Amino acid sequence: MNTNYPLLETYQSIFSTDTAPRKFFAPGRINLIGEHTDYNGGHVFPASISYGTYALATKRDDSVFRFYSVNFSDSGIIECDLSSLAYDKAHDWANYPKGMIHHLREAGFSIDTGADILFYGDIPNGAGLSSSASIELVTGVLLQGLFDLPIERIPMIKLGQKVENSYIGVNSGIMDQFAIGMGKKDSAILLDCQTLEYKYAPIKLANHVIMIINTNKQRTLAGSKYNERRSQCEAALSDLQTELSIESLGALTVEEFDNAKHLIKDPVNLLRAKHAVYENARTLEALSALNNGDLNRFGELMNQSHVSLKEDYEVTGTELDTIVEAAWNQAGVIGARMTGAGFGGCAIAIVEEDKAEDFKKNVNEIYLKKIGYEATFYKATIGDGAKEI
Ligand code: GLA
Repeated sequence: MNTNYPLLETYQSIFSTDTAPRKFFAPGRINLIGEHTDYNGGHVFPASISYGTYALATKRDDSVFRFYSVNFSDSGIIECDLSSLAYDKAHDWANYPKGMIHHLREAGFSIDTGADILFYGDIPNGAGLSSSASIELVTGVLLQGLFDLPIERIPMIKLGQKVENSYIGVNSGIMDQFAIGMGKKDSAILLDCQTLEYKYAPIKLANHVIMIINTNKQRTLAGSKYNERRSQCEAALSDLQTELSIESLGALTVEEFDNAKHLIKDPVNLLRAKHAVYENARTLEALSALNNGDLNRFGELMNQSHVSLKEDYEVTGTELDTIVEAAWNQAGVIGARMTGAGFGGCAIAIVEEDKAEDFKKNVNEIYLKKIGYEATFYKATIGDGAKEI
């Protein structure tokens, strides 16, 4: 296990047992480029990181599930029965594992007893590194393990997305669950979100590292603004469909879009759609740049992605813009952008390893001065996807 937290001891004391539970892990994710393209049928380029969610679990003989999170220890043990798995606001974070159990059962998988499960996450919550998809997928692999469920990985990933969409109520795309379910050490995944075709791309950064920078801004209202962006893209698509036979914005090249954009009636929807189409093109080009060892071009595309998310998609905000603009001005930086849904959360930057310490110091100083509190810096290590450990 990659954490020093005394998880086994905590498990045994919380659940008053001396049995040894099985252990599972699901990572968080960063997205290198391809933001707000997944639900538009475009491409994304995420990677799973070594920070994530651990789960320790033992099957019970009765029908009771008991959940405990070290991160939300004030909530104590949250309990529910197999017969009452509906969403319950009072169950707060435990709705994620409950939703996974509910949707696996609904899909026909046999989960016929309860379990005692302890969770511990070392990804910051609500920071845009997908702590929610991470808890969904760690629950998926632990249920698969405890109950010998004959489930393949892609259906599990889709059920994770269903939990988010139908159980929690955020209309998110497939990227997070896919990155977390299919992650591979030292690789990013280029995923076509329309077809779910994917390929791994080794991350070769020479003497550079990926820094994750948390704005530490709480993402209030993120869900509703996210759903609004999605509807604006759908409205733009339906205007385009009056003359074009396309299934998604991701089907359009930049040229095709520019020739047809007059069909989009609302000027704001036009900007949203422009971002989706151009970002998809940037993502495909970023893969070639990485494969060709052209890190500078990769960095330029990251920077353009941020500008587009700021100006056309309007999901960045002062905190993310301050971090990213400060990052652009530092020595040894190849590129920087927000990552994830936006509205706060994290940015990423590709930085020369030798300059990483100065980078942190300088960016933090600028951030603190302008925003009034500090940012947090993590070096990203790209690890494997969800699994038993
Ligand atoms: C969140 C969603 C993803 C994706 C990103 C933006 O992380 O869960 O599906 O839409 O935002 O790229």
